[in-house]
Amino acid sequence: MLPETRTAPLTTIAELGQHEGQAITLRCWLYNLRSSGKLLFPTFRDGTGTVQGIVPKAAVPEQVFETLKSLTLESSLTVTGRVRADVRAPSGFEIDVDDVNVGQRIPEETPYPIQLKEAGVDFLMEHRHLWLRTPRQSAILRVRATIMRAAAEYFDVHGYFRTDPPILTPNACEGTSELFEMDYFGDDKAYLTQSGQLYIEATAMALGKVYSFGPTFRAEKSKTRRHLTEFWMIEPEVTYMDLDGLMDLAEAFLTHIVSRVLETHRGDLKVIGKDVAKLEAVVAPSKFPRLTYDEAHAMLLDAHERGLLPAAHVYGDDFGSPDETYISSQFEKPVMVHRYPAAVKAFYMQPDPLDATKALCVDVLAPEGYGEIIGGSQRVDDYELLKSRIEEHDLPMAAFQWYLDLRKYGSVPHSGFGMGIERCVAWICGLEHVRETIPFPRTLNRIYP
Ligand code: 4AD
Ligand code: MG
Repeated sequence: MLPETRTAPLTTIAELGQHEGQAITLRCWLYNLRSSGKLLFPTFRDGTGTVQGIVPKAAVPEQVFETLKSLTLESSLTVTGRVRADVRAPSGFEIDVDDVNVGQRIPEETPYPIQLKEAGVDFLMEHRHLWLRTPRQSAILRVRATIMRAAAEYFDVHGYFRTDPPILTPNACEGTSELFEMDYFGDDKAYLTQSGQLYIEATAMALGKVYSFGPTFRAEKSKTRRHLTEFWMIEPEVTYMDLDGLMDLAEAFLTHIVSRVLETHRGDLKVIGKDVAKLEAVVAPSKFPRLTYDEAHAMLLDAHERGLLPAAHVYGDDFGSPDETYISSQFEKPVMVHRYPAAVKAFYMQPDPLDATKALCVDVLAPEGYGEIIGGSQRVDDYELLKSRIEEHDLPMAAFQWYLDLRKYGSVPHSGFGMGIERCVAWICGLEHVRETIPFPRTLNRIYP
């Protein structure tokens, strides 16, 4: 415990606005320190934000001035002072410091390893446990927390039941090439889940509207700025919902998340450097654009002809990252691309009754080139068709017996999607790479710290 002589009520930097003109106490760390002779300007951080203090030598006891003057960065302390509104301050306030109480002073010989000057990404990733304390990284984590809360909240208030699928599974959901395999007591193999979907199709048949929210794993062998090997996915699954209903749901869901972020994180978005006008455009009252795969393909060919894309998209292929970037940059809102060729999509997707070579699926591409944030579909509900799909995809039939049962006992049309939280955070915060979207990213070549 920090030794405290608290003479003023405890508050946080985020709540300074409620204490204007009053004396308060902050439990914080020293983030930065500038001085000009008889004036000190320490910056404090407490996890909710940062605020600058003002310490004139003449206004405080000698010992307070000397303690702060020689205090090392990231030392922990409590600060008592008076809150003063200042329009020039990023937080809108400054603290006239009266007293400080140092918890742990970091010795000069072993300084905090992350200095305020720019450090390389490898160094920062190696010190992720400390890098998290810097204003931009903490702001990202606060926005992430709100995105996660808003995502779950959307389903909670719309009558969905959260049902938690297992993480250890006997079968693959999203293709067999990216499975993390483990030994399950000798005889059996188990895999870390790639998606809760197959299991929540079962809980949806029991409860109607359900969702799952948890970590998912993919042994991605490629180094890209969009792929993690461990990421968080939120997945709704709804009985009697078709593809159109699913697109309506994705639109309402994303609009809710962005609105919540705009409600409470304008300051954080400023620290991160995101243009909020781009997010305001997302929640403005007009529909998200919807394009068929064929329309998106035509758009890409046209862009190629006009010299805007180096390669011509090949009809029938999935979209590459430059293709997705081009498509999404044509719109201010997330764009929903639906009805991809069934051949490039998962085994469980319902074929389009008007063209069986297409799947009743949708990928939602985030604006500004952030790529796919949501993938979903209507599911095959016919027993024989699903069985033949499992065979065609060379999947082990025995492991899918229970999944086939869902088509045997009262099958109904149903749909669902999955959103990767980290992709959503990257888009909303405007981050170049998903490694900054999660406290401790797991990638092909990183599992430390
Ligand atoms: O498109 P995906 O593979 O779809 C599924 O897993 C379905 N079973 C979901 C469903 O219908 N219930 O993945 C869904 C989303 C992607 O749109 C993306 O946002 C994210 O999960 N995602 C990843 N995020 C980070 N790193 C990776 N390696 C990711 N792979 C997918
Ligand atoms: Mg996908």
